[in-house]
Order: sequence, then structure tokens, then C-alpha cells
Amino acid sequence: MNPPSAGSPGRERRDAYAISAEFYDVLQAERDEVRVRSLYRDDVRRARVGVLDVGAGTGRVTLMSLLESRVPVHAVEPARSMRTPLMTRLASLGAELTTRVTVHPHPLDEAGLQGVADVAVCHNTVACLHPTSRRALWPAVAEALVPTGVLLVQLPPARLPSHRITHVLPVRTVGRHEYGGRMVTSADEGRIRARFDYWVRGDGRVLRRHDETFWLWPASRAQMIAELEEEGFIALPERPDPSVLAVRLARP
Ligand SMILES: C[S@@+](CC[C@H](N)C(=O)[O-])C[C@H]1O[C@@H](n2cnc3c(N)ncnc32)[C@H](O)[C@@H]1O
Repeated sequence: MNPPSAGSPGRERRDAYAISAEFYDVLQAERDEVRVRSLYRDDVRRARVGVLDVGAGTGRVTLMSLLESRVPVHAVEPARSMRTPLMTRLASLGAELTTRVTVHPHPLDEAGLQGVADVAVCHNTVACLHPTSRRALWPAVAEALVPTGVLLVQLPPARLPSHRITHVLPVRTVGRHEYGGRMVTSADEGRIRARFDYWVRGDGRVLRRHDETFWLWPASRAQMIAELEEEGFIALPERPDPSVLAVRLARP
């Protein structure tokens, strides 16, 4: 689980991830790469119109979609600090891949996308949205999809944690330095507070420490289905991994 911003009901801060972006791929890319492939690869391979990556971050789903499909890929990423590593990742690819990918530097509901994809993926993003922003996302996804398009959403936590939970991120060695971190989650007035602490060690001591706090909003599977049904989606059968909800647009 990764980070968003301040807990105001309005638009999430666009400079969120300013700290986390440096550590995001170093500490999480390897494991997440395997995970996004197993969660979405088969759906992406079936895309015939386009793939939409909502909240592309540093681009793991975007890259997997480029490699596993033959269709245009739309990566929507409003935060500059996350878009920067995304662009670097894309710039390292050959022209045969980069001609197929378009990066939209806005929240999806401001990107103006219409009928560009038959598969949309929203991985590790919805939990980070205030409920008002989350509900604003569904009509924009419906608009961006063709009439029978499929949306795959990684579900937020269903409820608030009952106690403080510490999740240690795997340590990674880069040259003479070791990178590490942890995420501590706790309930805080209807939201989940997720504090990320990062450290870099070298020469037997801690060289620097950073932290960034994000807020998550829980929502049950039933609540998510109800919100999506209001926007014309119907739920598809439960998937082998129930952390992802699949819905299909059912427009007349
Ligand atoms: C926790 S990150 C996950 C990034 C990526 N999906 C991953 O799993 O590595 C969530 C991303 O969603 C983006 N985001 C937030 N609100 C959004 C919106 N309304 N439309 C599109 N992206 C949004 C954030 O800027 C952030 O990069």
C-alpha cells in the first residue's frame, strides 16, 4: 500500500509523493512488478482498443501493459514527482514502445479522455482518494472506456485497522548504500494514517532519514460495487485474487 496527501475533502495535493518518489521503485518495484503482472496481464493481453492506467505512478502497470499488449496505452498521472520517474522509465524504451504510450498529466476527471480504452486498471490508487475524489473518478473512467469496457480496481482496505500495524519494506543495496523503510498504519478519525519512514545507510551509520504521511480511506467491496453501479458498471464474477474488483460497463 502506498501514499496520497492531506485529508481535505477537495482535490488531493499535487505535490504529494515528493519524498516517496525517490524511494518508491528502489524499495517496491521488484515485488510490485511481479504482482501487477499476475493481477492484470491476462486482461491487458485481451485489450483490442487501448489500456488506461489510472494513477500510473512510476509506471509499473503502464510498462507491463506496453509489453503485454499491442494497443495504445494511456498513463494518467497528476503528481509531477511520480510523473518524473514515469517519464524516465518510458524514455529508456525503444521507439516501437514509446509511440504507443501517452502520458496525461492530470487527474483522470480533468484529462478529457473519451472511448480510448477497453481495459482500465486502477492499481493501488483508489485507497488514496478521499471519497469525494473517488466518486468523481467513476464517471471519468466510464467516459474513457468504450461501451463494453472493463475496469479492474484494486480495492481499498475494507475497514479501519483496529491497531497500529508496522510493515517493514525490503532492504535494497545500491552501490555502497543500503535503502530501507517502513510503513506504519493506524486509524485516525475515519481515515487510515499511513506514515512512511525511509532511511539510507552507509559506512555503518544512517546517512539520512525522511518521512512522508499519507491518508487512506477504507471502502468495502459492496460499497465500491454500489458506487460503480451508479455509473453504469456491473460487477463481474469474483477473481482468483479478491483484492481486485472487476466491473464491466453496461451501456445501452
Ligand atoms: C499510490 S500511487 C500508485 C501508483 C501506481 N499505480 C503503483 O501502484 O505503483 C497512486 C497514484 O494515483 C495518482 N492519482 C491520485 N489521484 C488521481 C486521479 N484523480 N486521477 C489519476 N491519478 C490519480 C497519484 O498521483 C499517485 O501517483
